[in-house]
Amino acid sequence: MSGALCEASPSLALLKYWGKRDAVRNIPATTSVAVGLAELRTVTHVRLLPAKEGADRVLLNGTQQPPARYERFFEALRRTLRTEQRFEAESTNNFPTAAGLASSSSGFAALALASCRAVGADPPLRDLSSLARVGSASAARAVFGGFTILRAGAPAARQLYDESHWPELRVIVCVVEERAKKTASRRAMEASRLTSPYYRAWVRASARAVPNVLRALAARDLQQLGDAARESYLRMFATIVSTHPPIQYWLPSSVEILRECEAMRDEGIGVWETMDAGPQVKLLCVEDDVEEVRRRVETLGATSRTLVCSVGGTPRLSSEER
Ligand code: PMV
Repeated sequence: MSGALCEASPSLALLKYWGKRDAVRNIPATTSVAVGLAELRTVTHVRLLPAKEGADRVLLNGTQQPPARYERFFEALRRTLRTEQRFEAESTNNFPTAAGLASSSSGFAALALASCRAVGADPPLRDLSSLARVGSASAARAVFGGFTILRAGAPAARQLYDESHWPELRVIVCVVEERAKKTASRRAMEASRLTSPYYRAWVRASARAVPNVLRALAARDLQQLGDAARESYLRMFATIVSTHPPIQYWLPSSVEILRECEAMRDEGIGVWETMDAGPQVKLLCVEDDVEEVRRRVETLGATSRTLVCSVGGTPRLSSEER
């Protein structure tokens, strides 16, 4: 029986996607601009199931996943490949899962790539991005390496620059909670769209921020990019906490790190933070400042671990005959 293996890195948004234009097709309402995190990896092994076995199966970190979460993805996969084939996937992450570290982005990107390879198909990256999007919109970005953009209303992401664009950029992932979050981003963003009085303002403001983020990235201007990234995640959280009933992802230790980050900036250290749907804080800085920033954060005692990441490359893919 043949199979395939894919190793992909999560896609961390600097400009955030939050809210869907089309919830069934999973089309984003806001443009996101992101960077892959090289040292965080999802490894997914896909095997083709014999015809008599009727249902797709996904095992994540050794736990069987609810089939409903993967149903639309596998349907889209079979439509793309024009096949009746069923799949079995086994996936592991070397970082906390469903905890606000974009594990669904690397998860669905690796699943899309490995599934296609397992049947010997080699669709264009654009189609793979569109397929991964059905599972998780951030996964549309994670099929590429380097820096990516997923436009509001677009079915697929594209690469802006590969990882060589900014080799000295680092992201320090500050893990403050290892456990999975209570509210999945998928459910939370739909609740924000339906109930937050600020949702429309968020979507409008996010669109206005795009040119600025693209300019900062083109110029590798960390201060400009860092300021824009902060504005984006803080505005996103304004819509999250104003959801009814309110959703609160931050922990006291998250705030401690944000404060320390601000103190470091006041002292002239170039470090800016971003957060996703979870309590973890990600710090943007350059390689030369990593040691000092990491030391300052670890001294707070607010983290269970800190992970230093450089810009991730293209997912690695291999076929297997067994
Ligand atoms: O693609 P999802 O459903 O995992 O949502 C991602 C949402 C954020 O991580 C908060 C932002 C983003 O653009 O990745």
